[in-house]
Amino acid sequence: MRGLKGKVAIITGSATSIGASVARSFVNIGTKVIIADIAEQAGQELSSALGENAVFIKTDVTSDADLKAAVEGAISHWGQIDFIINTACTYLDNGMDSTREEFLTSINVNAAGGFMLVQMARPYLKKTKGAVVNFGSISAKVAQPGRALYPMTKGTVHQLTRSEALLLAEDGIRVNTVSPGWTWCTIMDDVSGGNREHTDKIAAPFHMTGRVAHQEEIADAVLFLCSDHATFITGTDLPVDGGYSALGPEQQIDSLGKLEN
Ligand SMILES: NC(=O)c1ccc[n+]([C@@H]2O[C@H](COP(=O)([O-])OP(=O)(O)OC[C@H]3O[C@@H](n4cnc5c(N)ncnc54)[C@H](O)[C@@H]3O)[C@@H](O)[C@H]2O)c1
Repeated sequence: MRGLKGKVAIITGSATSIGASVARSFVNIGTKVIIADIAEQAGQELSSALGENAVFIKTDVTSDADLKAAVEGAISHWGQIDFIINTACTYLDNGMDSTREEFLTSINVNAAGGFMLVQMARPYLKKTKGAVVNFGSISAKVAQPGRALYPMTKGTVHQLTRSEALLLAEDGIRVNTVSPGWTWCTIMDDVSGGNREHTDKIAAPFHMTGRVAHQEEIADAVLFLCSDHATFITGTDLPVDGGYSALGPEQQIDSLGKLEN
């Protein structure tokens, strides 16, 4: 992909899981990365594994001081910022029993953190005519059992993306959302006991692809949106969901076929 080599990306939530895959993919293509995550040990380990083009800066996205330090760290290490990737998230959600504190934590991590980071990085992104990729989700547009907070935060991210794209267009900065479908991640690994085949089987009825995504498939979409192949794309959402959002309530069930006696 053109336009990524030698550039600099700050990636929140990139010590583990999908974010780590995004960091790996950027480094593989020659982009320098700041791994900005609250998980210290995983962040240090990934940074060592990725080599000289990766730096870990312990960052809690709910702390403006931490976000400022991540921006300053990027400038002191690499001298520029080209891309902000807002991957950090919490799945904290107790449905209708969620407390106000949980509601505010959820929106703080999943939406406010990324917004504040972009605000702080704006002068640098303006210089490089950079790009922002926010992580949305299939959860942004549908009701899901047991969930109230997480989908609400992802809906917020989708709208923030549209607003940020307009507000930052005058600086030549593009802003888009990537919305993954079910993607192999830490939680799925934990819940399924590492059973990928079983997870694919559960996901199959509502993903046309019949499986969950590989993390690299999400990372590729993020890199594309930052690259020179996407210079006229801003303010939009790129679903990377194996056809999830194109399916209706009938999923892949042949309901008409079932009517036959
Ligand atoms: N996994 C999926 O199926 C899926 C589907 C749709 C969307 N997404 C989105 O993709 C992104 C990555 O998802 P994931 O499943 O890899 O998540 P994850 O929970 O496995 O990883 C999230 C990362 O964010 C970090 N983090 C958490 N709180 C933080 C904070 N306050 N400050 C800084 N870092 C913090 C964690 O340490 C972790 O490294 C998220 O934005 C998620 O909403 C995931």
